[in-house]
Amino acid sequence: MKIDTSSPIVVLTGAGISAESGLATFRDQGGLWEGHSIEDVATPEGFHKNPDLVFDFYNMRRREAAKAKPNAAHNALAALENAWDGDFLLITQNVDDLHERAGSKRMLHMHGRLDSALCYECGSHQHWEGDLDRDCFCSSCSRPSLRPDIVWFGEMPYDMDAIEVALEKAALFVAIGTSGTVYPAAGFVAGAAAAGAHTVEINLEATGNSLFGECRTGSASTAVPDFVATLLGKKP
Ligand code: APR
Repeated sequence: MKIDTSSPIVVLTGAGISAESGLATFRDQGGLWEGHSIEDVATPEGFHKNPDLVFDFYNMRRREAAKAKPNAAHNALAALENAWDGDFLLITQNVDDLHERAGSKRMLHMHGRLDSALCYECGSHQHWEGDLDRDCFCSSCSRPSLRPDIVWFGEMPYDMDAIEVALEKAALFVAIGTSGTVYPAAGFVAGAAAAGAHTVEINLEATGNSLFGECRTGSASTAVPDFVATLLGKKP
């Protein structure tokens, strides 16, 4: 299939794209789920049981993300978007803002984001820079009812309608730095492949998912700029 800059493209990123910016992934050695229990810090039940533990977990991650810098992979995706005339959607599972800081605009955070707070009383989302705790007040309903604006296990990811529309139209689907173990994101390649898209995986190690038509292994900060240069015809 001939792909050119007018072709609709969907890019999905996971924690692996931020690894070289110093942010821990989840399932690699030393990953976040080695030192923390998903039930305790990434479920509504865990928040209900011990909100302070959850606030501490996300406050720590927010501070780490604030210290991190976008790497060459984030920058390459922003450059790709700028050069792309056709439909372009970057879907990130990540909750850091490294894509935005690299210049990405046509994007969405399906698992929420660390620099936002969600009011569990009125449902409002509000930009939030500092630490969150049980005494932080919602700017809409003025109640002390803010939680991290993160999609936890058992909750519905954000923007699924827009994601489904984009996957149906995609001519090219690229998954970068994700283990492909958490749905619905793990199923996006199947949807794109079914719609006839060319599917590419860029990952430190191949995940072995045979639905990818092309698999490029290596570190994101090298493999993604390389892929983008090839896509834009700057490299054979
Ligand atoms: N370059 C490219 N890929 C890398 C790099 C790197 N430098 N370092 C790690 N990886 C790859 C790993 O090989 C792994 O396949 O990134 C992937 C990270 O996988 P996970 O840790 O499972 O992260 P992710 O796929 O984003 O997790 C999905 O799970 O816990 C939930 O909500 C959380 O959004 C997260 C979701």
